[in-house]
Amino acid sequence: MRIGILGSGLMGGKLGTLFARAGHEVVFSYARSEQKLKRLAREAGGHARAGTPRDAARDADALLLAVHWSRIEDVLNQAGDLSDKVIITCSLPLNASNTALVVAHTSSGAEALAERIRKAPIVAAFGTVPSEVLFSVFEARRRANRPSLVYCGDHEDAKQVAAGLIRDVGFDPVDAGPLRIARYMEPFSLLVGQLAYEREDGPELAYRFERWRR
Ligand SMILES: NC(=O)c1ccc[n+]([C@@H]2O[C@H](COP(=O)([O-])OP(=O)(O)OC[C@H]3O[C@@H](n4cnc5c(N)ncnc54)[C@H](OP(=O)(O)O)[C@@H]3O)[C@@H](O)[C@H]2O)c1
Repeated sequence: MRIGILGSGLMGGKLGTLFARAGHEVVFSYARSEQKLKRLAREAGGHARAGTPRDAARDADALLLAVHWSRIEDVLNQAGDLSDKVIITCSLPLNASNTALVVAHTSSGAEALAERIRKAPIVAAFGTVPSEVLFSVFEARRRANRPSLVYCGDHEDAKQVAAGLIRDVGFDPVDAGPLRIARYMEPFSLLVGQLAYEREDGPELAYRFERWRR
């Protein structure tokens, strides 16, 4: 699959690298330095290149939106026409100091995006784990008990695409339902962030949901 990365920072840089290592064609875009995008592409291997947001979007089957909430409008404007692209967002609607959700309770960042980008299906995924755990999860992907990763969206085909990528990175995808469930997922991401960054055991944290059957 062809995947455009809109925002090549901690999340986009790592997820793009893992998508490339899983065999996808990846275009890294939207960082303040072109050198950084080129380095990411080089280190990700043969299936990756650097480009502008417009390059990343042009032939993409799926796009990963991985920017700070304050940069969403800018990166979308640079990306151009996104009609019918699967948009996977890990971006959380956080304020400038990353301390509070600016959209919550009665909506979510993912739903606000769906309002903004009406012609493309949105899936919320990957925002519930810290970037620091991604490479370790990928390395452990052949283990039996994979960590969970929740995702949600209103378009079944787009959700299948996201579930495939979640599996490629090494997680067990958990379909949480329609896009409005992002109202629960986004605050959950802050809980995971609290456990990852405010405790002494380090940020390499993932979670696993289990159904208990007698
Ligand atoms: N980090 C996590 O563990 C984590 C976990 C869950 C969800 N999230 C969410 O995922 C999203 C991305 O987070 P992140 O930690 O990956 O952010 P980040 O490391 O700051 O990456 C954001 C990217 O946007 C680029 N950027 C920022 N301002 C720009 C500008 N003016 N022009 C061009 N590029 C610009 C940055 O460029 P540079 O590379 O030059 O800095 C970087 O590549 C956020 O919404 C965050 O809330 C993050």
